[in-house]
Formats: sequence, C-alpha cells, structure tokens
Amino acid sequence: MPKQEFPFPMPNGWFCVTRVSDIQNGESKPFTFCEKEVVAFRTESGKVSVLDAYCGYSGINLAISGTVEGETINSPRNGIKWNIDGSCAEIGKDSGVPKEAMDVTTFSYPCQELNGFIWAWHHLLKEKPYFEIPAIDGFNGEDSKWGKEHHYEYHINTVLQEIAENDVDQAHFPKVHGSPSLPETEAIIDGIYRKTIAETLMNPNNDSVSKEFHVADPSMFTTTFTRESWGLGCVGLHMVNLPIDETTFGGEFIMINASCPVDNKNSILRWSMRVTKDIEDELGMAIIDGIANGVLDDMPIWDHKSYVAQPILCDGDGPINKFRKWVSQFYSDPLQAR
Ligand SMILES: [Fe+2]
Repeated sequence: MPKQEFPFPMPNGWFCVTRVSDIQNGESKPFTFCEKEVVAFRTESGKVSVLDAYCGYSGINLAISGTVEGETINSPRNGIKWNIDGSCAEIGKDSGVPKEAMDVTTFSYPCQELNGFIWAWHHLLKEKPYFEIPAIDGFNGEDSKWGKEHHYEYHINTVLQEIAENDVDQAHFPKVHGSPSLPETEAIIDGIYRKTIAETLMNPNNDSVSKEFHVADPSMFTTTFTRESWGLGCVGLHMVNLPIDETTFGGEFIMINASCPVDNKNSILRWSMRVTKDIEDELGMAIIDGIANGVLDDMPIWDHKSYVAQPILCDGDGPINKFRKWVSQFYSDPLQAR
C-alpha cells in the first residue's frame, strides 16, 4: 500500500505564530503559517501585526527585507509603508511609485496576543473569525498562585489533525508511552469547542520522566484531567487535586498547547506549562518533564505515518470517528479558495 498523504487543506481557526516575547517593539520576523510566508512585526508603540510577507505592490518579501518604522513596516527600494491592517500608509517621495499604489493592500491576518502567544486567524476562504479563544487562568500575569512557566517547542512532521487524533487513540498510551491509558470518556462538544474530563491514575515516576526529576515517594495517585480544545490550534489541559504531601491534596497543573500548521507535512507545537507553587519543588517538575518528554515517543511514528481514511474500529461510531466528524468542520473546500 503506498503512503497516503493527508488529504485535507490547511484548517480554519486561530493558530499560534510565535510567542509574545519573541517579537520586541520595532522588530519583524519571517514565519511560514498555513502554507503562506508571513511577516510578524511589532510597531514601535507595541502593536502586533501579521501580514502576507509579500508587499502588495512590489512583491518584495517584507519578512526578509522590510523594516519597522514607527507604526508601519517599510518596503525597501520603493519606500512604501504598510499599516498594521495591511493598508498603504505612505509612498516614498521621489520613488516614482504611482499614487494609485495607495489603494493597494497587503493581506493582513486578524491577530491577537493572548495567553503568552501571538495568534493569527487562518481561513482558507478568507472569512472573518467566527470564534474566540479564551484567556486561560495562569497564563495572563496571574503569578501569586503559580510557579515558574516552562516553555517547550516541537517541530513535528505531520499535520495537526494527526497529532490531535493521538489523544483519542487510547491504545497507544500504554504501548507508546508506557503509561496507563486515560479512561475513555465521552467528549462534550459544542461547535468548535471540545472537552474531555477523565479520572486518571498517575505514576509520578513514569517512563517519560527524566531520572533527575524522579520524586522520592513515587506513590500512585488519582487526578481529574481536563482537556479543552478551541478548534485545532488551542488546547488547554488542567489537572487538579495533585498530592502536596502524603496527606494533603490540592496542587494543580495547567498547560496550553498552541499549534501552528506550517504546511501539509509540518506543524509546530508551542507548550507552556505551570504548576501551583505548593508542588513546584518536586512532583510538579516530574509532571512537567514527563509530559514534555512523552511527545518524543510519538514523533518517530508521526514522521512516517500514512493517513488511513477509514480506520476499522470495533465500534463504527468510536472516538476516532467522532473526533474526525468534529474536526471536519475546520476544513473548507479548496476549490472555492481564491
Ligand atoms: Fe502520545
């Protein structure tokens, strides 16, 4: 059987371009976002913008050659300055560029800064955002309860759907990760939103945890593990009731998985994780390190996987098929795209 490439186009939704801290005032950087070259820049007053990298008038790559000037990004040679909304702010004097160029635009992606990330909206048919991602407690400056924020970035050779589908593939947890599988629970689905809640038995020193972060008392414990998705780009995880010591429970873990579809074979995942200060010194780091390493077990599989259009399941309406039905809402028909 030849390898089947993933058959769907770039998905619609909010996706992560980079971290807020990655672009300083007056700075611009190139990214590949949903098969498009884009420039992300921050004006001198601090406003962020994500534009098509190619100057709407000249085609010059602003991500490579452009410079931020005041509240605009300047296209070299012709001196055209672009506003953050992609409209033309100014044409360089004596540039020879006709004044009609003022009517040209460079495509501007709706974007926002939230939860420590810069998000841009991608829609194959260029429709406007029709949902929001929420501000997640713990990632917007609330520091009294939470310990240090830990950041990870993974470049993965597959698409977001394949990565997300992993979470509903219960069988792989013990086989790939050597960890107990999350008990199967019915997902709560509301449009673009999907939520699962699972009572989960955890081994703090599971196979993914580096020796240096093993806890002294590796007693198993049960936690309530909640996973929430807003489209394919933003996933929030929350564990509660984690043991603080032998008799006290109440520690918490939070995580955001902010994803970017690069193209039809590559994705970038950016993870932020935090635990409450009461478990930060020992158990918290074991949990964070174990989750950060766990994805490394999946990566070789994703590198070589072929897409199976109709997986044979014991129950035809199993979680993977339900998941695929939910995810199908994020794909537009490429034939309608301009
Ligand atoms: Fe996995």
